[in-house]
Parts: sequence; C-alpha cells; structure tokens
Amino acid sequence: MLIRRPPDIKPSEITPRGHYLQRRQFMAGAAALGLGTAMATLCGRAAQAAPLQATKSPLSTTDEPVTPLKDITSYNNYYEFGTDKDDPLKNAHTLTIKPWKVKVDGLVGKPADYDLDDLIKPSALEERIYRMRCVEGWSMVIPWVGVPLAGLLQRLEPQASAKYVAFETLVRPAEMPGQRGLFQPLPWPYVEGLRLDEAMHPLTILAVGLYGETLPNQNGAPVRLVVPWKYGFKGIKSIVRIRLTDTQPPTTWNKANAHEYGFYSNVNPAVDHPRWSQATERRIGEGSGLFAKRRPTLLFNGYAEQVASLYNGLDLKANF
Ligand code: MTE
Repeated sequence: MLIRRPPDIKPSEITPRGHYLQRRQFMAGAAALGLGTAMATLCGRAAQAAPLQATKSPLSTTDEPVTPLKDITSYNNYYEFGTDKDDPLKNAHTLTIKPWKVKVDGLVGKPADYDLDDLIKPSALEERIYRMRCVEGWSMVIPWVGVPLAGLLQRLEPQASAKYVAFETLVRPAEMPGQRGLFQPLPWPYVEGLRLDEAMHPLTILAVGLYGETLPNQNGAPVRLVVPWKYGFKGIKSIVRIRLTDTQPPTTWNKANAHEYGFYSNVNPAVDHPRWSQATERRIGEGSGLFAKRRPTLLFNGYAEQVASLYNGLDLKANF
C-alpha cells in the first residue's frame, strides 16, 4: 500500500464533539421543519450529501473527538479513483450512485438483485462513532450512519453451510479513472471477505452515511463495509455484490501482496507490517511531520473486550 504524508492539520481544527452534536441537532431540527434539502432516500443523491435520520446507537464505542469532516472526506484511499490521498475527492464525483443494485447470491435462502433501498431501510439507521486505524499508521474517529450487517444477513437467510461473506465493489471504468489506462494499481473488482461470525458481530455495519448525511462518493457511496477492529482496507466501498460461501474468499490486498496483507487484518500492535511497525499511530488532526504526536495502537483497535473471543485459540501472528 502506498504511504502518503497527510496535509498539515492543526489540533484546533478537530471538531469538538459538542459542536458536532449541535450541528447534528440543527440538521435534525431543520429536516423536521422541512427546511433545506428534502429528506433523502438512501441513495437519492447526485453529487450532494443529504441528511439522514439515525438513532444514536449504544454501540458507539468511543467519545474521543471526531475527526473533522474535511479530513474524513479529503484524505482517502479509493484506488478506483487514483492512488493519491486527494484523488478520490477530485475524481469520485463522476460515479453514478442511483440506481444502485446489490447482487446477493451463494449460500442464502433469498438470493436476488436487490435495490439498495430494499436492503437497507431508512428506519433502521443508527449512528456509530468508531475509531478507524489504517494499515499505513494513521487513524481517524468517524461518525458513521448505517445498519448492523447481522440483521441484513439474517433477512437473507444464510444456509447452514455458509461460513464466509464475500463482498465486491463496482467495476465501471467509464466512471472510475483508476480502472482505465496502462497503470492498474490493483486487480478489479476490489474484493473483501469476513468469516460469517465476524460479519454477524454487532459492531460490524454497512454504512450509508457519515456526519449525519449520505456518504460522500469518495468514502464509498452509496454503501460500504465498516469493521472497526480491522485495518481500514477491510472496509470495502461501493458494494455491488454480497455472496455467502463455505470457503475463505479472496481479498484484494492479499491477492496483491500476500506477504504483507493477510485475510484477518485485525489491528495488532504486536504484528509488524513487513515494512514498518504497527506499534503506534498518528491520529489525523493531532499534528504531522517530525512533531506528529503518536499514540500506542491498541489490540483490535481498542475493541478487544467486544471481539477477542472471536479469535480464541487462533494464532494471531500466523493469521495476521
Ligand atoms: N474499497 C475500494 N473499493 N477500493 C479501495 O481502494 N481502499 C481501502 C478501503 N476500501 C479501498 C476500499 C482502504 S486501503 C482504506 S484505508 C479505506 O477504504 C479508506 O476509507 P476512507 O477513505 O473512507 O477513510
């Protein structure tokens, strides 16, 4: 994975949680009064974000200050739109996200090509504030809006033989410049996978928004995966296919470099990336360059209490 230096961000630019909540309350009030943008269906947005109604989940797992919206939306990894951190912001507006179909197939009782609005009901939306740790050594705190993946999978009726869930991103070179031309940074489609018990874990969500609004295209609109105890690259964007299988599915970064990226990709300060340490991280918004403050990285990104039991008996060094 390419390593880029983030732009300078002053600590004063971190949005205090109080301000963020005030902004959310204002937006909710405005929506209730019918002001501003009309309440959107999940993917009823062209280039502009639309407000989403979401209940605050008790499974929000941090009260650390949230990362400023401008950083979450301008410092991205989305190689379909280029490999520089600011490429997704520059290029992803070209992606058409309506209509949006998700193919569900494999070992499920209800395979079909679903409209996204039929898969994810607006009434089920929750807000979850999660830490995100990128494999490159930086982190953010992101207020997601989404639904637990478990509920959605249960509705699709997994068969008893299903052991894994495989995810796939859109391939559309006409709208994705990273999929055109001579230099193809990754094999397409971008694919990811989880064990079924990881996918069913209450912390795992499919996100359709952040900061109380529909997802910006550069963050994976209209729907992406969020698994907060794993490195950020497990969070596959713009999902068009969900497949249940009985064998471990391939994952993009593992296909690109199996020596450096394993299937599990659990955040683990004790297992170094072959080219750098994973012991510490830099929180976007807490300085940069030589003077960047670094904080210790936590096992399972700080979610050990909730998820460690999933890996009882598994050698976390061999299964990185
Ligand atoms: N999904 C797709 N389809 N393509 C990508 O290049 N990059 C991954 C992940 N999901 C990626 C993707 C990586 S490396 C990271 S760190 C996260 O998205 C970044 O998510 P963010 O840009 O919303 O912070």
